Amino acid sequence: MNRRESIASVPGKIILFGEHFVVYGNPAILMAVDLRLDVFVKVIQNSNKIYIRSDDKKNVADLINFELKNGKLSFFDPIMFTCKMIFKQRMIQDMGLDIKIKSAIPNGIGLGSSGAVSVATTAAISSLFKKTNKKNVYIDAMETEKLIHKYSSGADCLISTVGGLVYYIKDQKYKKINYKDNLSFLIIDTGIKHSTKKMVQKVKRFSEKENMQFLQIKKVAYDICNEAMKKIQKSDEVEIGRLMKENHKLLKQIGVTNKAIERIIKISDKAGVFGSKLTGAGGGGSVISLVPSDEKKRIERIIKKQGYDVFPVRIDNNGLVFKKIDSL
Ligand code: MEV
Repeated sequence: MNRRESIASVPGKIILFGEHFVVYGNPAILMAVDLRLDVFVKVIQNSNKIYIRSDDKKNVADLINFELKNGKLSFFDPIMFTCKMIFKQRMIQDMGLDIKIKSAIPNGIGLGSSGAVSVATTAAISSLFKKTNKKNVYIDAMETEKLIHKYSSGADCLISTVGGLVYYIKDQKYKKINYKDNLSFLIIDTGIKHSTKKMVQKVKRFSEKENMQFLQIKKVAYDICNEAMKKIQKSDEVEIGRLMKENHKLLKQIGVTNKAIERIIKISDKAGVFGSKLTGAGGGGSVISLVPSDEKKRIERIIKKQGYDVFPVRIDNNGLVFKKIDSL
C-alpha cells in the first residue's frame, strides 16, 4: 500500500575520536547530538516533478531528465539521485514529490549535515512505498553519500541512523557504547565552512607521500580510540579530555587543523575545559570541548564573548525516527 506523505527525522553528529583514520580502517567513536534535521515528503500524482525546499534554497526539476553531470554537485543533486534510485528500485513511474527539509544542523561545519540529508531523504521517500527499516535506509543512503565523497567511511550516515554513542569500524558491525553519566560537550563553530571531500583528499595525498609516518600516526590513533572507549564507559572526563588533546595532535600532524581551530582550542583550554579537538573533516568546521557540566554555561559565555557561535549539545539516543505516515 502506498502512502501520501511521510516525515523522517535524524540527528547530527560529532566525532569524538578517530575521524580521517576511520577512512583507512581504524575505529572511530561517534556521538549523535540533539540538533535534528527533518524531511517532509508529499506525493504528487501524475507528475514527474520533484520540488525541493530547504531553509534557504528551492528547486524544481523533472526526474525523468535528471542525470548527474561531472564536476561539482549542487545541493539538490544528491536528493534527486536518491529519488531516482528509490523510484528505480520500486519501479515507480508518473509520480512527483514535494520535499521539504528543515534543519537545525548547520552545514559545512563537521556536524554531519550532508549525511543527515541523505539518511532522512532516503527514509522519508522509501517509507512512502513499503515498510522499511534502519538497515535498508543506511545501505541506500550510503549510495548517495559516496557521490558526495567517494572515500566516505559511512560514519556520518551510520550515526545519524542509529543515534547514541557508537564505536565504529568501516564495513564492520558497530557497537553501541554504554556510559555511566552523560558527557557535556560544547560545539564551537570556527565560522569557516569546509569541504569534507577536499579534506579527505588532502589526507589521502599525505598518506601517499608520507606513508611510513602516516602509518605510525594511524597506529597511535588506533590505541587512543580504544583507550577512549574504556574511559567513556567509566565517564572518566579527565582522561577523555586528555585523550581528545592527544587525538587532536595527530590531526594536526596530518594537516587538517588551521589557525581558527587552534585559537578556539587555546581559548577553551584557558576557560577550563577537560579537553578539545577538531571534529569531522577539519580545515575549518567545528571544535568540540568536553566541559564539566556545572561549568558549561560559564565556559559557553567566555567563548561566545570571543565572537564564536557555540552549541551546547546533548546526546541523541533515537537516531532515525519515522515521524508520521499517512496511508492512501
Ligand atoms: C567526516 O565527518 C569524517 C571523515 O572521517 C570522513 C569519513 O569518515 O568519511 C573525515
